[in-house]
Amino acid sequence: MSTSALDVVEFLLTTSVYSSDRARDENDLPPQIRRVYWTNGTDAAENGQHRSGIERPLAATEQLAREATGVADPWGAVSDLMFTDRDDFSSTLTLTQRDLAERWYAERADDERFLENPTLAAHFEGREDVGERVDYETALERNRPIQADRVWIDGLLAEYFGDDEDDQEMLDLVDVRAPEDVEITLDDLVLTANQEAEIEKIAKAIEHRDYLASIGLREIGKLLFVGPPGTGKTSVARALAHDMDLPFVEVKLSMITSQYLGETAKNVDKTFEVAKRLSPCILFIDEFDFVAKTRRSDEHAALKRAVNTLLKSIDDVSLIEDDVLLIGATNHPDQLDAAAWRRFDEIVNFPKPDSGMRADILRVITYAMDIDEFDPEAIAETTEGLTGSDLRMVMREAVLEALTENRTTLTQADLVAAVEDFEERDNLKNMDMIDGDHEALVAGGSTGKASDGGEEAGADGHAHDHSHDDGHAHDHSHEH
Ligand SMILES: Nc1ncnc2c1ncn2[C@@H]1O[C@H](COP(=O)(O)OP(=O)(O)O)[C@@H](O)[C@H]1O
Ligand SMILES: [Mg+2]
Repeated sequence: MSTSALDVVEFLLTTSVYSSDRARDENDLPPQIRRVYWTNGTDAAENGQHRSGIERPLAATEQLAREATGVADPWGAVSDLMFTDRDDFSSTLTLTQRDLAERWYAERADDERFLENPTLAAHFEGREDVGERVDYETALERNRPIQADRVWIDGLLAEYFGDDEDDQEMLDLVDVRAPEDVEITLDDLVLTANQEAEIEKIAKAIEHRDYLASIGLREIGKLLFVGPPGTGKTSVARALAHDMDLPFVEVKLSMITSQYLGETAKNVDKTFEVAKRLSPCILFIDEFDFVAKTRRSDEHAALKRAVNTLLKSIDDVSLIEDDVLLIGATNHPDQLDAAAWRRFDEIVNFPKPDSGMRADILRVITYAMDIDEFDPEAIAETTEGLTGSDLRMVMREAVLEALTENRTTLTQADLVAAVEDFEERDNLKNMDMIDGDHEALVAGGSTGKASDGGEEAGADGHAHDHSHDDGHAHDHSHEH
């Protein structure tokens, strides 16, 4: 028997049970099912009646069955079962004999399946044909809350910012992602022992927040990630959101520009309000050094007001009371003042990776690639000072170079060459930044062949390649 039949029958049973059992709410539906029935408040509000939510009865049309189960031909998958029917006019699938369907399902669904569907777990709990294995409480606990679903998040954002004229600033200032939209996981990242310990601590704090509140420990749950660009600060914050199934609210402080200043303080307030409504969630504030910069005396008064609002909001938000985990990040810890530092209870260091970590990072990022005679330790030895982001760029370069020779299998030699290219480029950039001596570059570019042979010309060529690159070039532009 294929699992598509089981998937479709589960869908039909779930919609049928949910439609009649008023004790169930949207948190009892598995995310892939409630997603297709969610009505957005602002769309529905046009006729003045509906609010965001899921309305009974849930009609099981073929289209919705397809979207919720991923089965391309849902009717085809269940048409030969004796308890199913299809209404040709509305293309709705129905269960003609629900008790038969239930017995059929109970015989075939394993524990895992029941624990992933609180609606059915509640319905089947205690029945003889499923025994002890079906437990509603466990299923509910394991099910992702509706607040973490993209549909719910979009609805909330529309409610808060939908008809506001300052949408644009808001969109620039915050980026809200559902955990299902975050692609990176902690397994993709190579962490230091200290980083792992900090993550473990924060996971425990989230798990036991009721206990922490009961003993009066409230000053927990504000982390500051400190380290050079490209060391994984943003990635770790996102991976936490993904792995803990929490919405990810990212504030980009550098987007607070004088252009919209009048509205900024208000929007900062709204951002925190949104974070609290989305809770439990992660609120990530990148480029935190921006705060310190704007506190200088010569800054625009409105900008200072916005930043003070931000600091005050940070003081008011709490992991224990609001379920908001706050993570700040900065590439420039030296620029933070005491007022900024004291708002965080844990500082997590993101150093440049050592040789062992570099080898591990190379293993992780080449996971899906074919590389002959791959020796990550040897590459790690020669890449002192490179960050995870640099190593990614080295690999990208090696892959593209090989593609120009129509190869998709790399060799260790390709990697060695890509590292050399990278270092040449890096030298060029440093020359530019430290000396501010643009003449050297200009001379190298125009008369390089005459003065310095082929090597300069090669380096120049790569500098041009590099200007097309997004991430890394951008990172370095922050380093003054
Ligand atoms: N320790 C690491 N392990 C694996 N990948 C890393 C690591 N550090 C950085 N990277 C990769 O480098 C890129 C840039 O990292 P990012 O998180 O944006 O750094 P930061 O926010 O510190 O500037 C990402 O693609 C990330 O996956
Ligand atoms: Mg970052």
